[in-house]
Amino acid sequence: MGEKFIQLTPQVYHYALQHSSNSDDPLVRELREETQALGDISGMQIGVDQGLFIQILVAALGVREALEIGTFTGYSALCVARSLPQDGRLLCLDISDEWTSIGRPFWERAGVASKIELRMGHAVELLNQLEPDRTFDFAFIDADKVNYDNYYEAVLPRMRPGGVLLFDNMLRGGRLAEGNVTSEDDIALQALNVKLTHDERVENVLLPFGDGIQFCRKK
Ligand SMILES: C[S@@+](CC[C@H](N)C(=O)[O-])C[C@H]1O[C@@H](n2cnc3c(N)ncnc32)[C@H](O)[C@@H]1O
Repeated sequence: MGEKFIQLTPQVYHYALQHSSNSDDPLVRELREETQALGDISGMQIGVDQGLFIQILVAALGVREALEIGTFTGYSALCVARSLPQDGRLLCLDISDEWTSIGRPFWERAGVASKIELRMGHAVELLNQLEPDRTFDFAFIDADKVNYDNYYEAVLPRMRPGGVLLFDNMLRGGRLAEGNVTSEDDIALQALNVKLTHDERVENVLLPFGDGIQFCRKK
């Protein structure tokens, strides 16, 4: 098969950002700076390119009911919520009050806080307790890697046909492609990549974007 891709360099990355709308949003810049002040842990936040992609995708799909597993300091949630209609809802699940409390004031300032419900706890338990009739058009999964498959199996039945699930970090810094799969997290995501590719319930494309996004559409 013909291969078509280019080498991503810092120059190419910044060129792409400079030619993307709203890539220098002042509120986002402030939230990202506050997150960076946390130190190395700030690397958990998705990239601005990924945030803009999610923001446009949610708008293009006309999402009304969204789910996020793994909210951290609220950047990806902000991107989703900004694209929901006024009566749209985003349910966020996270275990850390410390990190999510950084995001709340930014949601308020963006005027999207009323669309976001944050539930605190272990996401597997929170999903088990979810209202039986709660369904989603869009889900973003970006929490503890060993539970990604549990999240997938809990969320997929709640997705409407045609709904989109995104999983972040599915390239694991390139290690999965290099066959360097040793940690528990890497083993779990390697198995999930294989499973998604052969799962008749979805069609998927693994986008080499950020740390790799599995883009799945429920059939
Ligand atoms: C990679 S960060 C999410 C980044 C966020 N999507 C963003 O782009 O800003 C992972 C988050 O998952 C949360 N988390 C980890 N394990 C969890 C669990 N078992 N249940 C719920 N949340 C969990 C962490 O507290 C952390 O905030």
